[in-house]
Amino acid sequence: MSDHTIETLSGEDRRFPPSAAFAAQANVHADVYDEPFEAFWERNGRERVTWFEPFTELYRWELPYAQWYLGGKLNVAYNCVDRHVEAGRGDRVAYHWEGEPAGEARTITYAELQRNVVRMANALKEIGVGKGTAVAIYMGMVPELAVAMLACTRLGAPHTVVFGGFSADSLSDRMNNMGCEVLVTQDEAWRRGKPVPLKTVADEAMGAAPGVRATLVVRRTGNPVPMTEGRDRWYHELEVSDDPASCPCEPMDSEELLFLMYTSGTTASPKGIAHTTAGYLVGVATTHSLIFDLKPETDVYWCAADIGWITGHSYIVYGPLCNGATSVMYEGTPDYPNHERWWEIIERYGVTILYTAPTAIRAHMKWGHEHAEAHDLSSLRLLGSVGEPINPEAWMWYHRHIGGERCPIVDTWWQTETGMVLITPLPGVTTTKPGSATRPFPGIEAAILNEEGERVEQGGGYLVLEKPWPAMTRGIYGDDARFRETYWSRFPGHYFAGDGARIDADGDFWLLGRVDDVMNVSGHRLSTIEVESVLVDHPKVAEAAVCGRADATTGQAIVAYVTLKGNEGPSVEMLEELRNHVAQKIGAIAKPANIVFTPELPKTRSGKIMRRLLRDVAENRSLGDTTALADPSVVSELASRAAEAPTDD
Ligand code: WT7
Repeated sequence: MSDHTIETLSGEDRRFPPSAAFAAQANVHADVYDEPFEAFWERNGRERVTWFEPFTELYRWELPYAQWYLGGKLNVAYNCVDRHVEAGRGDRVAYHWEGEPAGEARTITYAELQRNVVRMANALKEIGVGKGTAVAIYMGMVPELAVAMLACTRLGAPHTVVFGGFSADSLSDRMNNMGCEVLVTQDEAWRRGKPVPLKTVADEAMGAAPGVRATLVVRRTGNPVPMTEGRDRWYHELEVSDDPASCPCEPMDSEELLFLMYTSGTTASPKGIAHTTAGYLVGVATTHSLIFDLKPETDVYWCAADIGWITGHSYIVYGPLCNGATSVMYEGTPDYPNHERWWEIIERYGVTILYTAPTAIRAHMKWGHEHAEAHDLSSLRLLGSVGEPINPEAWMWYHRHIGGERCPIVDTWWQTETGMVLITPLPGVTTTKPGSATRPFPGIEAAILNEEGERVEQGGGYLVLEKPWPAMTRGIYGDDARFRETYWSRFPGHYFAGDGARIDADGDFWLLGRVDDVMNVSGHRLSTIEVESVLVDHPKVAEAAVCGRADATTGQAIVAYVTLKGNEGPSVEMLEELRNHVAQKIGAIAKPANIVFTPELPKTRSGKIMRRLLRDVAENRSLGDTTALADPSVVSELASRAAEAPTDD
């Protein structure tokens, strides 16, 4: 953490107290913070979820593993879909789906969603999915993605959704790690007007994942794709019932596995972050209702993330549906066919709540506020932000140009591992400050610790959680040692999130970014080592080191320092080849923005690459202390090369 960041943030003294009008209609009031931890989670557990059998024990905490709502039985799909239909709300819209190609849209009510989920569940049964079968889902933002997830939960089959931008290698790694037997995918997806060949990539992945024995393929673009006889089935060709009675919801124990979501860490292999049934559902439903002040009868809620990340799982699928919300789901990118697309969508559906990421806000800032101004955004009443610290400038732009200076902004801090938002303002209650996620959600105990593990009452340090919460991860799939080491060893007894943070005189939290070798690109975590391993795997690369540098739009951009083998000389072709190599192996999101070719990397005498120095070089900072280096001349050489290297932006 640089002192510079801390100083900049301290200079922020704007305050935005809630308006009396918003407060008067808000779902929560300040007294929610007074409710004791146990009472809060007990009450929400009983009220927000329909139980087949009620729980008998609130939680059990055997460090580092927590279990919640023990003894209970429930089904997530039942809670997200069937119970709303049974209660007579089948005509309410669950999703206003907007395809990327102009004019393509579908409106799906809860009753239709139920029939779709039953049909998908029966199709999955037909190809051998039952309780406990691990299913991978590799799709774009089509309704069938949410339907496939819900169908799995209906059957008690744990899923892993792999973001449609990931490569074949990333997909096969995840399928192998989870032991997936079945894959749900689609022919192609639309992205910026071009088809993305999901099925072809999935075929390549299955070549390296022999455990996958059956595939269900959803037709989206309709272009021909290869189908393997005996393994691949078209979803639309399977003749199965959509009658809810034909496929009852499997009663699940509270602690049974719901899904894995893979995320990057400080080593090359992604971690399968495990989430279980009851705690996760209670956690996402409670936070979704209170943080977004959701009024299910009248709100039109839009989380503009991709379902392939945790944000989409918790706040497009499970939280909103459990709460009976009406959501918008958009298939494409914000700049297709032009920069007005998002604002058109808000106007068309009368969106009242918008939840997006700082990287998207900054992209819109760059494109200009005139695009938003061309549309009627007066339906909006609340805005949210997630994924990385939001810089005060972006916060103010969002507030003025999108929120019309009337909408509260909730800056929500959380992680794949936390499952649900943990630090956030509550609209109608909290006085917000641009750039601060303010305070822990009710029932959450967070603190800042210094290097020695002592509590910091005011100032900077490491963010930790001191008590368990319902949606917290139940571990890294198949790797207990890594789970303990990554999150529980730095400050024994505390969950260490890997983020630096500062607490101010009012007790408000300011997130300062990652303190480990993990980059945050467009709100998504990528580990330096993951990208390095892929670079080194290229036959012409001898050594590689990767770091993030500040980027005005994506938060961080990846810079790679590469030493080529023997007599290979750097060239523009080589640069492109390596960038494409990374995209091919991990996905386009990991493509380095620039690559600096260097005959040597800065190393300590013990051979450790000094990433701190690489970051300084990448950000044109003065180079600080270089005395630990084996060969100090390497860095000055590096700095001059970095200054000359071509960049992406
Ligand atoms: C990391 C988690 C949780 C969904 C999206 C990313 C950063 C997230 C904020 C915020 C500052 C934030 C943290 C965190 N982060 N939200 N509001 N303010 N930083 O999920 O990929 O698991 O990444 O994103 O660094 O540790 P993820």
